[in-house]
Amino acid sequence: MCRPEYFAVTYAINPWMDPATGADRAVAIRQWDALHAAYLELGHQVSLIDPIDGLPDMVFAANGALVVDGRVYGARFAHAERGDEGPAYLKWLCANGFTDTLEPAHVNEGEGDFLTLDEVILAGTGFRTDTAAHLEAQEFLGRPVVTLQLVDPRFYHIDTALFPLGGDNVCYYPGAFSAGSQAVLRHLFPDAVIAGAADADVLGLNAVCDGANVVINAEATGLIDELSTRGYHPIPLDLSELRKAGGGPKCCTLELRR
Ligand code: ARG
Repeated sequence: MCRPEYFAVTYAINPWMDPATGADRAVAIRQWDALHAAYLELGHQVSLIDPIDGLPDMVFAANGALVVDGRVYGARFAHAERGDEGPAYLKWLCANGFTDTLEPAHVNEGEGDFLTLDEVILAGTGFRTDTAAHLEAQEFLGRPVVTLQLVDPRFYHIDTALFPLGGDNVCYYPGAFSAGSQAVLRHLFPDAVIAGAADADVLGLNAVCDGANVVINAEATGLIDELSTRGYHPIPLDLSELRKAGGGPKCCTLELRR
């Protein structure tokens, strides 16, 4: 994770961002501190990367890389504003023992567009990550990568529209995906939890599930009820200030899979 010490909304690279409104950094830090505390409370080990002045979106650690089986597929950002984040995350990972790395030839925004399940990696495209990166990741990581087409600019990364429920099921908002990709998701996950527009609109799909607990935006009340009914334990958090940049709990979290 990366504490939002330089967080700001000074440019707009997704429809959630409005530089005229901006964001309150002190509030963002307080909300992020609560997310960090929630992970520690759950017993998860959390490592921190130093934030860098001039990279206001660096708090969104999910975009920094994709780490599977201890191997690191580096990020290469679509927008120049975030360009320096890829090398910064790669440098941190190398310095912290992840030396099996690939500097990507193709545009990809790390775990924002690659979600790892037991058998497959679900990969988004349409707004940020190039399909050539899906193949590049598959070849490097030796895991099958399933390409899914995103169609709504508010859900510009796959992690804004879908999250894994453990290793073999998912929760998603169908409206973010093309008709063909919706069919693929129905085929792969007949038992998926389906979210509605109201929960998607508060970035309720940008959640983190460890198989039992689900760290999720508190405003996603319908989804929180549904997840409880299905036997999961929701942990609702207020990350409204970070949503002004288009991010939620998952965006702030890069998983280091050894
Ligand atoms: N402002 C950031 C961007 O548009 C938000 C990134 C959110 N991260 C994520 N994993 N969805 O790039």
